[in-house]
Amino acid sequence: MDFLTDYINEVKQHDLYRALVSYQPLDAVHVESQGQRYLLLATNNYLGLTHSLAVKKAAMIAVEQYGTGSGGARLTTGSHPLYEKLEQQLALFKGTEAALIFNTGYMANVGIISALVNKNDVVFSDELNHASIIDGCRLAKGQTVVYRHTDMAHLAEVLENTPCQGQRLIVTDGVFSMDGDIAPLDQIVLLAEKYQAMVMVDDAHAVGVLGRGGRGTVDYFGLKGRVHIQVGTLSKSLASEGGYVAGSQTLIDYLVNKSRSFIFSTALSPGTVAAGYAALKELQARPELVDKLRHNGDYVRKALVAAGLQIDGALTPIIPIVVGEAAVAEEMAQQLKEQGLIVSAIRPPTVMPGKSRLRLTVSAAHDKADLVRTVEIIIAVSKGLKLI
Ligand SMILES: Cc1ncc(COP(=O)(O)O)c(C=O)c1O
Repeated sequence: MDFLTDYINEVKQHDLYRALVSYQPLDAVHVESQGQRYLLLATNNYLGLTHSLAVKKAAMIAVEQYGTGSGGARLTTGSHPLYEKLEQQLALFKGTEAALIFNTGYMANVGIISALVNKNDVVFSDELNHASIIDGCRLAKGQTVVYRHTDMAHLAEVLENTPCQGQRLIVTDGVFSMDGDIAPLDQIVLLAEKYQAMVMVDDAHAVGVLGRGGRGTVDYFGLKGRVHIQVGTLSKSLASEGGYVAGSQTLIDYLVNKSRSFIFSTALSPGTVAAGYAALKELQARPELVDKLRHNGDYVRKALVAAGLQIDGALTPIIPIVVGEAAVAEEMAQQLKEQGLIVSAIRPPTVMPGKSRLRLTVSAAHDKADLVRTVEIIIAVSKGLKLI
């Protein structure tokens, strides 16, 4: 078993060791650890709905009514009535015929791509797509071609030059999880139409963030009916757990019959599904949350850029402060923690070597005082460190 210790020693040597730290949530953006209170700038709980009374109550009522676990996979015993309600609501929200829930966004991507991409097919994938898309491509029986990040000339080139006897699928994050930038979905769709490819977008970080009332990238770009597969997760803006796909009824029927991560896993618990449904209802009833999220993101991004920090990314609540080396990212995260801020240090293999960063995420649950303090602390800490 020496190889286990050897691996751990190696990651430690490269400042890439990861350890679990437990925090007790106090509300949507505050946590406590060892008697210390922290402000969270590392949560994907973009709208703060994990602590909405309506969402919590819905989960509790569902547990009272239906119990805790679902007891089986959906095709056997676990398909409790709340699923259908949520799937109908998701399809309406995304403007599609139907939707299907998976147990996580990760399982959705892995299960959809591996089910769709067969022997003679080719999947074209952005190089910065989420790990779950990459793993879906690895499991697929067809060929994977990776195109340079958001580089439409390169995508056009590989579509033109890659022989394909079966289906083509272009897959992209809608909002990239570690960079916060937005995929050029309008241009991707034009290329897909030219080369008769299907398009799949993963809106894990776009729902609740972009488009009218937070409907995501298809709505943001005005592409209704032109994107075949819209993936999302209930675990970020929708304050629960579970992934989903929205698309045609035929796509959903196909996945129910073919997608292994859907078929061979126990269904989500009633409380989890009910929380996702209630959060979706809250999002629809309170579009001002999406505006506040945008406003909060703009404020922090502009303040940090004005202070000379290197922020890439776009109009989203994911604000990456790229610092370069993994050790610097770790040191900066530690110093921020000492000042009461939790910000994730993101290092390889999550990002490329030399591109380590602090990944700051802003929530609609942050108030102005939180954000002013955050900006002041980050600027002060960054002055004492050697950033790229
Ligand atoms: C772009 C993207 N897709 C999928 C996922 C996976 O979603 P989940 O956390 O529901 O498994 C994530 C989450 O981290 C993500 O960032």
